[in-house]
Amino acid sequence: MNISKVIRETFFNKPDFKLYEPSKLTKPEKLLDVISAWKGLELIIEDILDEFSIGRENCIEFGVEFGYSTVVFSNYFKKVTGVDTFEGDIHTDNKENHYEQTKEKLSVYKNIELFKSDYQNWIFKDNSRYDFAHVDIVHTYKETFECGLWTANHSDCTIFHDTESFPEVKQAVLDIAKATGQSVYNYPNHYGLGILVDKKGMKNRKR
Ligand SMILES: C[S@@+](CC[C@H](N)C(=O)[O-])C[C@H]1O[C@@H](n2cnc3c(N)ncnc32)[C@H](O)[C@@H]1O
Repeated sequence: MNISKVIRETFFNKPDFKLYEPSKLTKPEKLLDVISAWKGLELIIEDILDEFSIGRENCIEFGVEFGYSTVVFSNYFKKVTGVDTFEGDIHTDNKENHYEQTKEKLSVYKNIELFKSDYQNWIFKDNSRYDFAHVDIVHTYKETFECGLWTANHSDCTIFHDTESFPEVKQAVLDIAKATGQSVYNYPNHYGLGILVDKKGMKNRKR
């Protein structure tokens, strides 16, 4: 990297979080009664989709656990793809394999398809484009950056949970914004939600 680029990125082009301030709160019709730290965020999903005119065809989620956020997305997209090891991680309470139970519980939502896979294998084989993506896996820098960089390059808008409770997640989101040139917002409530939006979404934004 040359010196003028370093100076430009350090002092002038440094990406930083803008505060996300929803203009409306909407309770989705379909909600799942399971334990989740995601509760509360369902109220701002429609606002984000409207704000940046995000398409409603397909959504991919990495980090389903018991399906709370997955069911929230099923209110807004024709197809929701959920990817998880379903075996938990160093930050989750549950570390038992619950794929079959979760699949059975979510089978009433016909537009949700669950896959038992880690994101590492998934992103290796998937070259699709998604309207929207959600990253809520193990809250470490490396994994969030790697998975989120892929979703940023394969979707118009990616959201990340736990930007306030895990500084590594917040840093990874900022670094993905820097790497991709996407715009970045943070909603500080409910443990924090990072929002990355591509150029098309920013051009279409309402406010
Ligand atoms: C915080 S939970 C997801 C919570 C969920 N979004 C909700 O609404 O309650 C994190 C999930 O990420 C999954 N996970 C962790 N590392 C993963 C990886 N490398 N690939 C796929 N899933 C992973 C865990 O199995 C766990 O179910």
